[in-house]
Amino acid sequence: MGVCLQGGEFARKVKKFGKSEIVVGGMETQDEKILRAARILADTQTLMVFTGAGVSAESGFPTFRGKDGLWDQYEIQKMATPEGFVQDPAAVWEWYCWRRGLVLEGKPNPGHYAIAELERSFEDFLLATQNVDNLHRVAGNEKIVELHGNIFAEKCTRCDFRRWSEEIYTEPPHCPKCGALLRPDVVWFGEPLDPKDVERAWSFAERADTILVVGTSAVVYPAAQLPEIVHARGGRVIEVNLDSTPVTLIATVSIRGKSGEILPKIVEHFKAIS
Ligand code: OAD
Ligand code: ZN
Repeated sequence: MGVCLQGGEFARKVKKFGKSEIVVGGMETQDEKILRAARILADTQTLMVFTGAGVSAESGFPTFRGKDGLWDQYEIQKMATPEGFVQDPAAVWEWYCWRRGLVLEGKPNPGHYAIAELERSFEDFLLATQNVDNLHRVAGNEKIVELHGNIFAEKCTRCDFRRWSEEIYTEPPHCPKCGALLRPDVVWFGEPLDPKDVERAWSFAERADTILVVGTSAVVYPAAQLPEIVHARGGRVIEVNLDSTPVTLIATVSIRGKSGEILPKIVEHFKAIS
């Protein structure tokens, strides 16, 4: 799929939503919503989980948007585009190495562990994450597609050399094979997602009964299509987020709260009833 990464900052999209979440009486409590989410999971064979930076917020990592978000302090054009890298590779590497350092010091939180528990509970499971912070893997998820890459992956800007590195560089690293600059193997704005990842995640969304959407503002495309695909086929959408997002409009149940607090409760109820 030749779709390049684009965000709310880059492209305005007119979106068409299906039916909104309708709660009779509008008086459903958070606990009731958690129970409803658990019941949906108990009635699910094929589960997709879709996460964003919010799931790592309780591990101490800043999210991108909103107050004190990374995009408040850093410019997307400079840090997360191929043009920004060509202009100032040292600044980009410095930023990614700072984030590597945060990840190396941080650890998964109960939200990550609850998602790992869901993978163990469902035979037919896929986690599609926009996060590059590797924490889902550390928490134990293996059936995972990292749509935007991984902060510890590097690739050559000229040849096919790739490697995994946890180094914190003081200068931009060069390719041991051809000498050209190495770059973080992440997806930047304007770049296409890895077609293998797209195939795996999109085909799973096409058959998922339920998608659990956690901690994403759901404004960066094409990733944000995943809940839309599940919803369009009549699948259920469970959202856990501090705020409302475009996904809230299509959610079967949308729960406001911290993923590190809400997800363990959902999983606990799910395990009790399934
Ligand atoms: P955002 O920063 O856009 O959104 C984070 C979301 O998490 C927001 O909707 C918050 O309300 C929510 N949130 C914050 N703390 C939370 C918590 N403790 N529990 C639950 N929800 C919480 O991050 P993403 O949606 O991941 O791409 O952003 C998508 C992409 O845009 C990223 O992959 C990154 C960024 O530009 C690239 O860098 C290529
Ligand atoms: Zn090379």
